[in-house]
Amino acid sequence: MPLPIFEKSVFETILARRSVRKFKAKKVEHSTIRNLLEAAVRAPTAIHQEPWAFVIIQDKPLLKSLSDQAKPIFLAEMHQHRAEHADYKLDIFDTPDFNIFHNANTLIVICGKTASPFFAADCWLAAENLMLAACAMELGSCVIGSALPAFNVPSVRAKLRIPDNFSVVAPIIIGYPDEEITPALRKNPVVFSSITAH
Ligand SMILES: Cc1cc2nc3c(=O)[nH]c(=O)nc-3n(C[C@H](O)[C@H](O)[C@H](O)COP(=O)(O)O)c2cc1C
Repeated sequence: MPLPIFEKSVFETILARRSVRKFKAKKVEHSTIRNLLEAAVRAPTAIHQEPWAFVIIQDKPLLKSLSDQAKPIFLAEMHQHRAEHADYKLDIFDTPDFNIFHNANTLIVICGKTASPFFAADCWLAAENLMLAACAMELGSCVIGSALPAFNVPSVRAKLRIPDNFSVVAPIIIGYPDEEITPALRKNPVVFSSITAH
């Protein structure tokens, strides 16, 4: 597979990655998706299980319909845990026009084999690899955690051919950014201790 040439260093790419929620109409090519998956599966994997598998959706009406299914399920789940999420604004999920996938035309869903002891960790590492590779290729990405409850619906799982022994871990939208991307602001790292032998 021809590998893309990246101009940014790994560290520059880490600093440049942001969640992108506005995309150009330009389609993400299959060869680009293959490169992203290639990056994903290079992630560390506990006891070399490689417990991941992927669903690729490049069908906007299907994404809109998944979004419409996901919103009420996500809202119901969040209301159940209202006290924990008191400062999280949920009104947008009640808005008919709001698309949880931010109108992206590509969604990559990372699924994990539940029998594998560290499947979630492995899949999240694959997710970050994928998102950093996307950033290096001038693509934008965003994890869509609000879609997760919808992937437990049997009809959704059947449509996406997700086997019973896999859970959806990380739904990630991908596309060409149509917004200005500025570096992320973060708090300074908290260091509990830094111990050096004398
Ligand atoms: C587990 C997880 C779930 C997320 N779910 C959503 C989501 O449903 N919708 C969304 O727009 N962003 C979602 N995000 C993106 C975060 O809002 C974003 O990472 C955070 O605001 C920090 O911004 P940055 O990624 O640009 O640095 C999620 C991120 C993570 C890690």
